Amino acid sequence: MKNYRILFVCLGNICRSPAAEGILKKKIKEEGLEDNITIDSAGTGGYHNGALPDSRMRHHGARRGYKFDSISRKLSQNDFERFDMIIAMDDSNYHNIMRLAPDLEAEKKVYRMVDFSVNYGHDHIPDPYYSGADGFELVLDLLEDACEGLLDKIKKGEL
Ligand code: 4NP
Repeated sequence: MKNYRILFVCLGNICRSPAAEGILKKKIKEEGLEDNITIDSAGTGGYHNGALPDSRMRHHGARRGYKFDSISRKLSQNDFERFDMIIAMDDSNYHNIMRLAPDLEAEKKVYRMVDFSVNYGHDHIPDPYYSGADGFELVLDLLEDACEGLLDKIKKGEL
């Protein structure tokens, strides 16, 4: 199987992208694919550099058996060399990532998380930061579904 280096990106790198990272890491561990797939996350903003994921995201994740413990960092141009796929949570993230892409080859690495949705028709992963518990639960539902879809495509050699 081909090797993949995947970077999930949101705004703060404390809610959506670290959750996507934790969910996909758990799935690839369960399937014994850790040697083939490298996963990380970053934020376009950098306001929360060095921080653990938001405590609400960690709490909701823990209830589903996930451990979200990556440290927030800002997306850098270097990431276009270090990763094969850079996956945005919403359109604002997508455009900010594209703005940083150094060339066409880098632009081709950029995807939207909802490109991999299977059971949901949402056009983005909504920012849960100012939402209540329901917002965090919805993000987890959407991310679990899209991570499953992403992993299926990888396993079928479609990416
Ligand atoms: P994230 O959520 O992009 O999913 O990590 C946010 C976290 C923090 C802020 C916005 C969104 N903020 O404005 O501080």
